[in-house]
Amino acid sequence: DQQNYAKTTFEPHLLIFPIPFQGPVNCALKLAELLCLSGINVTFLNTDHIHRPLLRHTDVLSRFNRYPNFQFETIPDGVEHEKPVSGDKFMEVMAAVDAVSKPVFREMMVSGRFSRSSERPVTVMIPDACFSFAVDIAKETSIPVVCFETVSPCCLWTSYLNLPTLIEAGDVKGSDLDQLITSVPGTEHIIRRRDLASFCRSDDLSNPVIDLIVKEARSVPQAQGLIINTFEELDGLILPHMRKLCPNIYTIGPLHSLHKAKLLAADTTLMSQETTFTNSVWKEDRSCLTWLDKHLPKSVLYVSIGSLATMTVEQLLEIWHGVVNSEKPFLWVRRPGSITGGYDESLVPKELLERTKEIGCIVDWAPQEDVLGHRAVGGFLTHSGWNSTIESIVEGVPMICWPYFVDQQVNSRFVEKVWKVGVDMKDTCDRLIVEKAVRDLMDKKQETFTQSANTWKILAKEAIREFGSSSLHVGRLIDDIRAMTS
Ligand code: UDX
Repeated sequence: DQQNYAKTTFEPHLLIFPIPFQGPVNCALKLAELLCLSGINVTFLNTDHIHRPLLRHTDVLSRFNRYPNFQFETIPDGVEHEKPVSGDKFMEVMAAVDAVSKPVFREMMVSGRFSRSSERPVTVMIPDACFSFAVDIAKETSIPVVCFETVSPCCLWTSYLNLPTLIEAGDVKGSDLDQLITSVPGTEHIIRRRDLASFCRSDDLSNPVIDLIVKEARSVPQAQGLIINTFEELDGLILPHMRKLCPNIYTIGPLHSLHKAKLLAADTTLMSQETTFTNSVWKEDRSCLTWLDKHLPKSVLYVSIGSLATMTVEQLLEIWHGVVNSEKPFLWVRRPGSITGGYDESLVPKELLERTKEIGCIVDWAPQEDVLGHRAVGGFLTHSGWNSTIESIVEGVPMICWPYFVDQQVNSRFVEKVWKVGVDMKDTCDRLIVEKAVRDLMDKKQETFTQSANTWKILAKEAIREFGSSSLHVGRLIDDIRAMTS
C-alpha cells in the first residue's frame, strides 16, 4: 500500500546472497526477516538449485509475502539436481556457482540492472563469507559489504581465517592427528590436528576446498563487517583474537532464538499458531512430538545428522546397536538419502528391528527446535553442524558428537573441551563407544553435563533479551546499514 511504499522507498536496499545449501539459506532467511522487521528493503538472492525446493515450501513463501520490503530473486547455477544435495556434492555446487552464477552476479552489480522487479540499486551487500568474489565485486562497484558466516566461529577462526598461517606452519599436512596445533592464537592447548576443519587433513594443498577457504581468509578482513551466529560469552575465548583481524564483528546469535523472539514481539498472534519458524525444505513430521509426550523428562536420546551429512550402512549399524544397547528410548531422524552404500532392511538383525519398535521412533525429518526444547529429550547424538550445536546449547541439551565434515570437527572439540556440554566421538564409530557415551551422557555424568548445559542456556537467553549483547549487535548492524546507505 501507499504508506508502506513511501516508507520502503527511503530505506536502504540490502542484498543477501547465501551459499545454496539448506543450512546457510535457513540462517540467511532468519537474518533477512530480522532486518525486514526494521523496515530495511531486502532482496534475497538464491541460486536456482536451492530456490526450487524452497518454492515448494509454502510456509516460507507465505511468511515472506507479508513483507512489502522483501523480495526473492534468483540466478542460474547450472546445478541439475532436483533435490538439495548431500555434503559430498559441496564442491560440485560451489564450482558450478563459480562458473555460472558469479559472472551473472557480477554483470548485475556492475550494470546496476540488478533486478527486474527492483527499482532501487543495492546499497549494501551481505553475501555468505565463502563468496569471496562478492567482496571483490563490492569493491569494484563501491558497494559496502558485510560478510555473513554461517559456519561456527570456532571453525572460522581456527581453520578458515588462520588457514594461510596453518599452511605456512606446515600444520595442514601431517599424519599425527593428535598433535596440538600451536600456530592459532587462543586455542593452542585445545585444538589437535584432528580437530581442525576436515579439509585440513588433505595432503593435497591444491585441493579446491583449500583454495576456496584461503580466498575467504583473504577477503573477509576486507569487508566492512562480519556477522556471526554466536553470542559474546560463548566464544569469549576466540573473539578478542578474531577482532584483531576483523575489528567490526556483529555477534547476533543464537540467531534462531533471537529471530523467534523478535518475530513474536512483532506479531503476538504467531504465538497461538503452530509455527516452527524454520525455513526447512523438507516436510517436518510433527507426530514425533506426540511420541515424545509419552516419555519421562530427559529420558529420550535424539539422533540426527542434519541436512548434508551421510553415513554408511556399517556406520548406521554400529550407531544403531550402540543406541539400542544403551536401553534409552530414542528418536532418530533418517533423512532420505542420508545412508549410503545400499541400505536394505534385510541387512538389519531382527532383534534390532524389534527392539527399535519397542523403544524407538524413526522419522524422515523432525521439527528439531521443538524436539530439543521438549522436556523428554535428555541427550542429542549429533553430527555437530553449527545450527544443531547452538540449538542444543540454547535448550541445555548435552551432546554426543559424531562430526562429519567442515566445521563439525572443530565444534565437537569445543563441545567437549571448551563448553563442557558433551562427549566428542570423533573418528570412532563403534557400538561399545556409542553405548558408553549414551550412558555417560544420560546416566553417569548427567548431572555434570546438565549443569554446564544450563549455564550456557541461561547466558544464551540473556544475550537475546532487549538489552542483551546479541540484540544490541543487531541494532548496531541496522544502524550501520542505514549509515552505509546515506
Ligand atoms: C551445514 C554443515 O553441515 C554445518 O556444519 C555448518 O555449520 C552449516 O552447514 P547442516 O548439515 O545443515 O549444516 O547441519 P546444521 O548446521 O546442524 O543444520 C541443520 C538444521 O536442520 C538445523 O537448523 C536443524 O534444526 C534442522 N533440522 C535437522 C530439522 O529441522 N529437522 C531435522 O530433522 C534435522
